[in-house]
Amino acid sequence: MKIILGITGSAAAYKGAELTRMLVHAGASVHPVMTRAGAELLGPKLMHALTGNRPVTDLFDDPSPYAHIELIEDASAVVVAPATANTIAKAAAGIADDALSTVIAAASRVPVVFAPAMNVRMYEHTANARNMASLEALGYVVVHAEAGSLACGDEGRGRLAPVEYVFEEVMRVVWPAKDLARRKVLVTGGGTREPLDPVRYLGNRSSGKMGYDLARAAARRGAFVNLVTAAENDVYLPSTVTVTRVNTAEEMREAALELAPEYEAIIMSAAVADFRPADYSADKVKKGDMPAEVKLVPNQDILAEIGSAKGDKVLVGFAAETGNDIEGEARRKMAAKHLDVIVANRVGGEPGFGTDTIDALVIGSDGRVNSVGVVSKSELAELVMDEIAVILNK
Ligand code: PMT
Repeated sequence: MKIILGITGSAAAYKGAELTRMLVHAGASVHPVMTRAGAELLGPKLMHALTGNRPVTDLFDDPSPYAHIELIEDASAVVVAPATANTIAKAAAGIADDALSTVIAAASRVPVVFAPAMNVRMYEHTANARNMASLEALGYVVVHAEAGSLACGDEGRGRLAPVEYVFEEVMRVVWPAKDLARRKVLVTGGGTREPLDPVRYLGNRSSGKMGYDLARAAARRGAFVNLVTAAENDVYLPSTVTVTRVNTAEEMREAALELAPEYEAIIMSAAVADFRPADYSADKVKKGDMPAEVKLVPNQDILAEIGSAKGDKVLVGFAAETGNDIEGEARRKMAAKHLDVIVANRVGGEPGFGTDTIDALVIGSDGRVNSVGVVSKSELAELVMDEIAVILNK
């Protein structure tokens, strides 16, 4: 994966170095192209050290008269972060008068991502707003700036979007497999919490990580995703993921049942509480008033409910198991809930809840067992997307 990273003259230029590190860590070969102002603000030597590639600041430094074409030829994407109003205006108009604008003008066959950063007055200027809209109309991806306090002391929109988010967008754009393009995928994740009073709840150890990795994988492969999550933590996800937050099993059920009709594939990785307390106290229960026993009532099984009216949707379930017959249990759940695919995973130790890895086996729609073993949750998410893509693209 070769990424041409444009650095322009914004106070956020230093964040380009952080983005570089993330891209290099993800395995990208990063080729910096810096405008004159960008090279004033962020040292080309630092970018050289971070990438191993000498930054291009002037095309005439290269002996080849076709340096801009040679640079772009095998690139996966051009990313301009931060992008100033000046560079945005030039790109919107197709002007090529320095190394970076010439490379952008030559990028007709590779995706281009702009992450604007500038003072709020410049960001809000009608000309800049028009130019950013032109970039989107030209098919470029714009990662819009966020509001906050700016380097110059002003408050308002113009601050570079978090580099983690820019990174997510770049990875979505450059991801090679697009076999779920424009498909609609619903994912659930996290562990539901069943309240006893405003302070206490019954919960489980699910961190929501598996759900985040599934949502990210589907989005990278081109899907529009809705992630219904009960996880507490926030992570950065690509722009094509909508996050629906819930707390309880009943809230997750309502959200999933309302959304389900619109979605072609549904993946239930959430650890939904099977029971909830029968009684809820609107006031915090005092220590002395704690009941000796808590009566529980069953929650409805969301996946079974969706499976009973499955139609031509692709349904993927997870089975969290601790016993000896993981495959048998998974097959039983697969049949009972009318699933196309089930992921059975061992929990109760490491790997399991909250870890980056998972010990899993996947049973596919033809009954075939893929004993995956211990892999990262992001790798498992790719395997799940492979299964879904085969069924949807049949
Ligand atoms: O979030 P992490 O920390 O990354 O952990 C990931 C995980 C261990 C939670 C995940 O890999 C996992 O195993 N999720 C399923 C947990 C679970 O509830 O398994 P189950 O065997 O009890 O349920 C079987 C299936 O029915 C699941 O798809 C579950 O979402 C669904 N279900 C269960 C109960 C219920 N009331 N409604 C449901 O839809």
